[in-house]
Amino acid sequence: MLLGGSTHRLVRDQVTTEQVESLTMKGKAEPVAAWRLLDAARSPRAAKRRATNLFVGRDPQLRLLQDAFQRAVGEHTCQLVTVLGTAGIGKTRLAEEFAATISDALVLTGRCLSYGQGATYWPLRQAVLGAVGLTGEEPADAAEAAFTAVLRNDPDAANIVNRLLILAGFNREAVPEDVPWAVRLFLELLAAQWPVLLEVDDLHWAESGLLEVLEHVADWSRDSPIMLLGLARPEFYDSRPAWGGGKLNATAVLLSPLDDAATVSLVDKHDLPEAIKRRIVDTSGGNPLFAEQLVAMLADEGPRRPRQRRRYLDRRPGRGCQMGDAAYGIRAARRAHRVRHGHHHRLPLTLRRSLTRTQCRSHEPEPNGRRTDGSGSSMDLR
Ligand SMILES: Nc1ncnc2c1ncn2[C@@H]1O[C@H](COP(=O)(O)OP(=O)(O)O)[C@@H](O)[C@H]1O
Ligand SMILES: [Mg+2]
Repeated sequence: MLLGGSTHRLVRDQVTTEQVESLTMKGKAEPVAAWRLLDAARSPRAAKRRATNLFVGRDPQLRLLQDAFQRAVGEHTCQLVTVLGTAGIGKTRLAEEFAATISDALVLTGRCLSYGQGATYWPLRQAVLGAVGLTGEEPADAAEAAFTAVLRNDPDAANIVNRLLILAGFNREAVPEDVPWAVRLFLELLAAQWPVLLEVDDLHWAESGLLEVLEHVADWSRDSPIMLLGLARPEFYDSRPAWGGGKLNATAVLLSPLDDAATVSLVDKHDLPEAIKRRIVDTSGGNPLFAEQLVAMLADEGPRRPRQRRRYLDRRPGRGCQMGDAAYGIRAARRAHRVRHGHHHRLPLTLRRSLTRTQCRSHEPEPNGRRTDGSGSSMDLR
């Protein structure tokens, strides 16, 4: 798959790409720069950037995650926490910051992919490999030894190891079986040594098989400190209106836009005229990704003269100007603005409720979940 300049700029820290020869495209006078997507699943650069960036405005949400984790540890229960928010609002970042605050725990991460069939268990594959320090490239007997070392005393060890090997791709002929059961026992055995945090990112792309595994672990694991953390865009509830419903150990957190002060502090450190900074803060509508992108566009390659810069910000998508590149951001920002100013009638009922009451709530099933306006789809790596 090829990425254009604007998409590349948006995702370059999350994916691995190589630049290819510029393309001649219909309707464009000049050849267009293009990048080939090599790997969307893992990029060493993503983590590096985090440490140097300011993290602002999410104390209550961070505390909620920490409380859920403390509950899992203190009560030896499984806690299922779902973080919801539009593209770029800060779900992944919040999870990273949270994971960095907990110690003496095993942190397993996996990420759902937006494309391709047969990737149902991809995030679990990443997680179980990570749990035993494998990359997936090892010979099958090394992987078998690594899984067996965790499971050694369990009467079902051989069966579980077999299923984990298939799940992790060491036996490509076989179809994964009894995955919920095998994953639950594996997590329970890991949790007998350290509390386990299993984080699954981009859950809105999950296939139902994966969600069934997570629900099975949430419902059936016993006497084990396990926290399951799912990150999803709000439209996740369209296809799963009852997610977490009826579970006493399930919580959802909605990430609303950053407030003005937090957004200002993100933009403030950049060498841009005050008026431009103000416009960025207003236009971004509290979406940190969008604020970052606007800063990057204007600082890296935007017009140099202040008046031109202002005009650049004034333009709207669809009018043949560069700002159209950031159409997704404008939409996200407008939506964020509506939410912040109380016009959240387009959100599902459950989310509206949680917005008006508090930012955090227990799950209640949504009897007739409504659609949200599929956000950020132009950022999807399809
Ligand atoms: N609270 C925050 N403070 C500062 N930067 C943030 C914050 N939340 C997100 N960001 C930044 O905004 C960008 C998008 O955040 P990300 O977590 O990837 O969004 P999401 O996962 O919701 O799509 C990232 O570069 C991230 O570092
Ligand atoms: Mg994310």
